[in-house]
Amino acid sequence: MSDRTWTPQEVAKHNKPDDCWVIVSGKVYDVTEFLPNHPGGVRLLLNFAGRDATSAFKPFHTPTALTDALPSEKYLGSIDHARVKALKKKRSTPRRKTVTQDAPRVEVEV
Ligand code: HEM
Repeated sequence: MSDRTWTPQEVAKHNKPDDCWVIVSGKVYDVTEFLPNHPGGVRLLLNFAGRDATSAFKPFHTPTALTDALPSEKYLGSIDHARVKALKKKRSTPRRKTVTQDAPRVEVEV
């Protein structure tokens, strides 16, 4: 168990087969040693190296898969949401708003 916190940027540095961390539900795990043993294959897990794997993880795993598969010392801590918020506020160029357009609606007389 670890009460350290990390930013997504810090986690993103660990994105290689010999240094692989992933985020699941706001928690950070070192999966480097687990990679070759992953029942879903190395590739699938490596695709999420250094990134948030929550939405890919959930459909394929039992709720206890993480704690069953990884020794407790591989849990490195959680994502620092306060620092993530602060970093977002500091963004100098605003995020561009996505403009969506409704498809034209065609009324057909029957
Ligand atoms: C911390 C990361 C992960 C751990 C510890 C982990 C662990 C496991 C474990 C223990 C299983 C066996 C089934 C179970 O116990 O629920 C499994 C199966 C599987 N995992 Fe992961 N997994 C991780 C991430 C991922 C990711 C990101 C994907 C991407 C889609 C993925 C895809 C799969 C698939 C498809 C299976 C099913 C394999 C089969 O039944 O043939 N896993 N994983």
